[in-house]
Amino acid sequence: MPVHYVTYKGIKFPPAYNSVHSLSFAHNEFLVRDDDVFNITYPKSGTVWMTEILSLIRSHGHPSWNQTVLNSDRMPWFSTRLGLEAALSYPSPRLLTCHLPRHIFPKSFSHSTAKVIYTLRDPRDVVVSYFYFCKMCNSYEDPVSFEQFLRDFLSGELPHGSWFEHVRGWMQMKDRENFFFITYEELKQDLQGSVRRLCHFLGQNLDDDAISSVVQNASFTAMRQNPMCSSILLPADIMDQTKGQFLRKGICGDWKNHFTVAQSETFNRIYLEKMQGLDVAFPWDRD
Ligand code: A3P
Repeated sequence: MPVHYVTYKGIKFPPAYNSVHSLSFAHNEFLVRDDDVFNITYPKSGTVWMTEILSLIRSHGHPSWNQTVLNSDRMPWFSTRLGLEAALSYPSPRLLTCHLPRHIFPKSFSHSTAKVIYTLRDPRDVVVSYFYFCKMCNSYEDPVSFEQFLRDFLSGELPHGSWFEHVRGWMQMKDRENFFFITYEELKQDLQGSVRRLCHFLGQNLDDDAISSVVQNASFTAMRQNPMCSSILLPADIMDQTKGQFLRKGICGDWKNHFTVAQSETFNRIYLEKMQGLDVAFPWDRD
C-alpha cells in the first residue's frame, strides 16, 4: 500500500501519528513551560534510549516507572495527534519528545528556560538504522534499495527532512545554557559518565547506586527485555515485528557493513560540503 505522507513546511512526516493540524499546533500554539525537558533527535539517533535514561534519572534510578509505563506515556510525542493530549495533561515538570527540526519547534520556546537534550549519531549509522526501520514500520514507504535510500537521505528527501539541516538548526543553540548535546557514540563509550553529565545539566543529584541503576536499566539488553520500551507491544499494522526488531543491533559502525567504497566517498564529499562552517567536532569526524 502506498504511504501518503503528511507534509508540513515542506517536510514529510509519517501519517500514522501526525497531521498538519498537530504539527501546526506544536509549532504555533503549543505552550512550552519553563520546567519542560525535551528529548530531541533526528530519527534513529537514540531517541528511545534517551527516553529510558531520562525517565530513570527522573526516578532516581528506580526502574519501576520504566517497567510499568509505556515510554510514549513517560515522554509524550507532543507534536503528534496522540501525544498532544498526553502532553497537555502531564503534570509539571514534563518530559517531552520530538523529532522536530529547530525551525518548526514551538515558537513559545524562544523565551523560555525549558531544557533541550539533543542526541546525535553518526549519520552513516542513522541511515542504516533508518533503512531497516522503514522496512518494518508501515507508516513509512518500503525502501526500494539501500542505494536509493541513501540518495534520498543525502538529498533530504526522507520523512523528517534533512539530517544536515536538523543538526545545523539545533546546533545553533550549542552555547545556550538550556541546551545540552550528546552523541550516541558517547553514550556507547561511557554511559556512566554520560549519565553523570546529564544529571548535572538537569540539576538532579543521584548517588552512585542510583547512577549504576540508570546505567544497568538503560543497557541494550535490559531495554530489549522491557516491553515498555522495546516496541514489541505496537500493533502489527504499525510495526511488523516479523520483519525485524526495533532494538536492532545497538552498535556503532554498522554502516561499514552496508556502504560500498563509492557510497562512502560520495557520503564524505556531501558531508563535508553540508557541514562546512559548523564549528563542532563529532566522534565520527575522526573516521
Ligand atoms: P540500530 O537500528 O542501529 O540498532 P531511535 O530510538 O532514535 O529510533 O533509535 C533507534 C536506534 O537506537 C536503534 O539502532 C536501536 O537499536 C538503538 N538503541 C536503542 N536503545 C539502545 C541502547 N540501550 N544501546 C544501544 N543502542 C540502542
